[in-house]
Amino acid sequence: MFGELFPEAVRYAELLADAGVKRGLIGPREVPRLWERHLLNCAVLSEVVPEGVTVCDVGSGAGLPGIPLALVRPDLKITLLEPLLRRTNFLQEVVELLGLDHVTVVRGRAEEVLGTLQPVQVVTARAVAPLDRLAGWGVPLLKPYGEMLALKGDTAEEEIAGARAALSKLGVVETEVLHVGEGVVDPLSTVVRVVVGESPGGVRFAAKRAKAARTGRTRRRR
Ligand SMILES: C[S@@+](CC[C@H](N)C(=O)[O-])C[C@H]1O[C@@H](n2cnc3c(N)ncnc32)[C@H](O)[C@@H]1O
Repeated sequence: MFGELFPEAVRYAELLADAGVKRGLIGPREVPRLWERHLLNCAVLSEVVPEGVTVCDVGSGAGLPGIPLALVRPDLKITLLEPLLRRTNFLQEVVELLGLDHVTVVRGRAEEVLGTLQPVQVVTARAVAPLDRLAGWGVPLLKPYGEMLALKGDTAEEEIAGARAALSKLGVVETEVLHVGEGVVDPLSTVVRVVVGESPGGVRFAAKRAKAARTGRTRRRR
């Protein structure tokens, strides 16, 4: 899966198991299953990410799915977006140690960086929020006709059903559930893919984004 960058993937797994656990970014019980449940489960998302696009991993935490995706896809330009300083410090260290020049770490909440972050073609996320809330944060960060790829569990279909009205208000024109990782992970990873039309986030967010770009102002966390 990781090809030439397998040594970097091993290094990342070691960092998660050591500093990641010590700094409370990942539970100690996750260590024996880091590869299947975290690195591989996230890396297989690459199957559905188009070639050469910009990606924002919303709520990246300790770098999931953003870092495994970056390791298998040097063609992407990836922003890891995360509000908590402890986590962005770890992410910055990982990016530097692994020499991931195509990855940038940004500290902030998705709804606060709107207007300052360049809109992206793809938003990724895992374990950040239920689909309706996640879409409210992630979809406005997209370029027109961009897509959000959310790694979800067995509740994917239910979450879509419950989020239909919210998704439609946000300008989503297509929603589907994909299963990826054949021959790599068992069970397969479930991805909810939502595609937007020409107005990601709907009219309200378009106005907010335009205003933020004009004034250069967003709310800042202290
Ligand atoms: C449960 S963790 C999941 C981390 C990682 N994606 C993973 O799968 O291991 C949720 C992460 O989302 C971040 N988060 C919560 N609200 C957010 C928001 N509005 N914008 C960006 N990130 C957010 C949290 O700080 C936290 O790191």
